[in-house]
Amino acid sequence: MFGKTAKEATRNTERAVQRCIDPSCGSSYGLRERIYVCPRCSGTLEIDCGLATREDAAAVRRRWAERAASRDPRDQSGVWRYREMLPFDEDAPFVTLFEGNTPIYEAPRSARYCGLNNLRLKHQGCNPTGSFKDTGMTAAITQAVVVGARTAVCASTGNTAASLAAYAGRAGLQSAILLPRGQISAAKLAQSLDYGALVCEIDGNFDDCMRLIQELGDDPSIYVANSINPFRIEGQKTVAFEMMEQCAWQVPDHVVVPGGNMGNSTALGKGFQELLDLGLIQRLPRLSVIQAEGAAPLAHLFANLDPSKSAGGERLPETMAPVENPRTLATAIKIGAPVSWKKALRAVLRSGGKIISVSEQEIADAKAMIGRDGIGCEPASATTVAGMKKLVAAGHIRPGDSVVGVLTGHVLKDPDYVSHYHRGTLSLESGAKEGSAPQRIAGAFQNAPERVAANKAAILATLERRR
Ligand code: F0G
Repeated sequence: MFGKTAKEATRNTERAVQRCIDPSCGSSYGLRERIYVCPRCSGTLEIDCGLATREDAAAVRRRWAERAASRDPRDQSGVWRYREMLPFDEDAPFVTLFEGNTPIYEAPRSARYCGLNNLRLKHQGCNPTGSFKDTGMTAAITQAVVVGARTAVCASTGNTAASLAAYAGRAGLQSAILLPRGQISAAKLAQSLDYGALVCEIDGNFDDCMRLIQELGDDPSIYVANSINPFRIEGQKTVAFEMMEQCAWQVPDHVVVPGGNMGNSTALGKGFQELLDLGLIQRLPRLSVIQAEGAAPLAHLFANLDPSKSAGGERLPETMAPVENPRTLATAIKIGAPVSWKKALRAVLRSGGKIISVSEQEIADAKAMIGRDGIGCEPASATTVAGMKKLVAAGHIRPGDSVVGVLTGHVLKDPDYVSHYHRGTLSLESGAKEGSAPQRIAGAFQNAPERVAANKAAILATLERRR
């Protein structure tokens, strides 16, 4: 309990447990047990922080606001500022790069593009390693230090790897990352090399790497830092807290996020639910998740689901058919068997949101539009704006609704994609038969560089032509 008297003081780690989310199992385990699935039923785990407060909402909000102005290193992190909500004690060996504290921007051109009156975009790409992964990694690597791990590992489409490498570097831990060979943007790979990770390039796709990680997790020397690790989710859930502070505690009607391995949507759902349970917000925003058409197993499942039979997310399907050969140029979310699908689905159903997919062309054009707002993001992030446009057209989001989209990665994460789009040379291998024609993505908002003669008149003439 926070807002406690000195006599009642308990440590966060004493009241928190790891718990299986399957209602027919519900087994709980201590925080120090290094498990990534339920040892009894192989179900998905989450952390129950045992949260309760005696303070009124205003006092909690005031404390968080005051911490934002403090010089305590824990307060300078946009994750550890909310530490009473996390399964760590005050004196934990925090491994931080001052993650979080990311901006929320008005995005008028993107709003118009979607058919919305207003749109805000929270840019998680402004984290220390350029993606939202840092808010989770600070928690996972802190826990790795707490349990005395030697080596932290993850499978990754690039961003988790870069983040793990950086935080393991800060903590002085060895890190190893499994990447699908040839399927990672050069910029992300370069980060992992620079931060000193052992980079293992695997012949296979992300899902193959994830399977290997689950096998490696048995080895006592290994600490798995994928979002299957519930401590990652704990760090990432603080994005919901920061977003609500930035929205002056006015709950948006909709929050829209991209979906890959489904850690991010799980975490946001958990964050909002905890705020609701503590009385810090009065309702949940509708949480919608957007996948790329060629890597959309959960959107397929959702399309065939009868929400009235799900009991508000409490009754979930047992299985989800994976996509065998996921295909998308948004390589960050090129995932066919997301590990956190159940928790994400539960969060979406509880909130009344949707899970849909968008095409490669829709992602590419939405990304260019976010760029025109002066914001920019990597391709996977742009699924949000592409998805909102579809959800507005379908009547799920109304033009006057308040909407926040989460951008997950920085524009410089994938410069090749940007360059090809604007030069009109972006294409996706068909993946069908060998030799079949690649799918061409039009640069609908193309902005190719111009070759201009080296004199003033030529430059002015070019400007005039492009006005
Ligand atoms: N956006 C970006 C930029 C990502 O890197 C990812 C996931 C997602 C969205 C999807 O988030 O997996 O939590 O649903 N990237 C992982 C990685 C898989 O290895 O970097 P999710």
